[in-house]
Amino acid sequence: NDKKLLFKDRVVVITGGGGGLGKVYAIEFAKRGAKVVVNDLGGSVEGSGKKSASPADVVVKEIVDKYRGTAVANYNSVTTEGKEIIQTAIKNYGRVDILINNAGILRDVSFARMSPEQFNSVIDVHLNGAYQLTKAAWPYMRDQRYGRIINTASPAGLYGNYGQANYSAAKLGLVGLGETLAKEGYKYNITVNSIAPLARSRMTEGVIPPHILQQLGPEKIAPLVLYLTHESTKITNSIFELAAGYFGQIRWERSSGQIFNPNSETFTPEAVLHRWSSVVDFKHDKPFKGVEHPNQLADYNKLITAAKQLPDSNPQGPVNIN
Ligand code: NAI
Repeated sequence: NDKKLLFKDRVVVITGGGGGLGKVYAIEFAKRGAKVVVNDLGGSVEGSGKKSASPADVVVKEIVDKYRGTAVANYNSVTTEGKEIIQTAIKNYGRVDILINNAGILRDVSFARMSPEQFNSVIDVHLNGAYQLTKAAWPYMRDQRYGRIINTASPAGLYGNYGQANYSAAKLGLVGLGETLAKEGYKYNITVNSIAPLARSRMTEGVIPPHILQQLGPEKIAPLVLYLTHESTKITNSIFELAAGYFGQIRWERSSGQIFNPNSETFTPEAVLHRWSSVVDFKHDKPFKGVEHPNQLADYNKLITAAKQLPDSNPQGPVNIN
């Protein structure tokens, strides 16, 4: 199958597109015919320091000069000026099809020492920033019955990471935001997915050893992002993990679990203690076929219905609570 995935006449907004991953996306989209808004306010990895137009300008210049592509720079902050960023797309190209929520900062410090400012600023750029942009793009995407949104999460959000309470809270927040928007966007042909990448950039330099960083070129993330945002791709409501050319999916898994009888005298914390290994059993067959990997609230109803139909796993017997 040699079909090339092109983005001709599609308009892409990439936040934080002045460096790292965002820059690679901007160039790849432009090479495939998209019109690209490269947003970046400049500044340091902590989000402080002098703001600068140059990172976005450099990327736009490269797209135009080297690849004969179409791009425009924008220097607004995602936290306060999401509307202006989306308006840059509307004013220059008349629409917005694809939104890559990618801008981010780090303020790593152990939770005990983390100031409210360090916590809130990281939430603000990642989570509120994605909210601002998505909120501004959403009406256009709904009206045109078309949209593709990527939220940039992180392994630190999925699993937690020392010194990153602010960052991991923001990153898993982006996953939750995306999961609901995927549902609300479904009937408008708006897809929303989250990615948890690991790549070489100024964010990871000095944190990951150089010999590993060497394998983590940011260009190794882009193919999946472009695939997910192509018009022929309907995938939505999903989380992907990417690094060094590895592309895989992450999903929730519900354990086999244990049904306790709420009407029994043995419906006690001790009963939970006694049957703990069943509560957290991921090894054995799940009794609830079809809801082992829940991805919507309705799966809970299926679980409750299934539970009623499974008298065998309903322990009525006394539980030894010595
Ligand atoms: P980066 O620091 O090169 O890129 C982030 C960009 O966002 C910067 O160019 C920065 O100027 C811009 N930015 C920061 N605050 C902004 C604001 N308020 N408004 C507009 N732009 C703003 O780092 P990298 O690695 O390319 O990060 C891109 C995204 O990927 C971030 O969301 C990051 O958290 C995420 N990520 C990166 C990983 C990695 O291994 N590099 C791992 C997991 C997630």
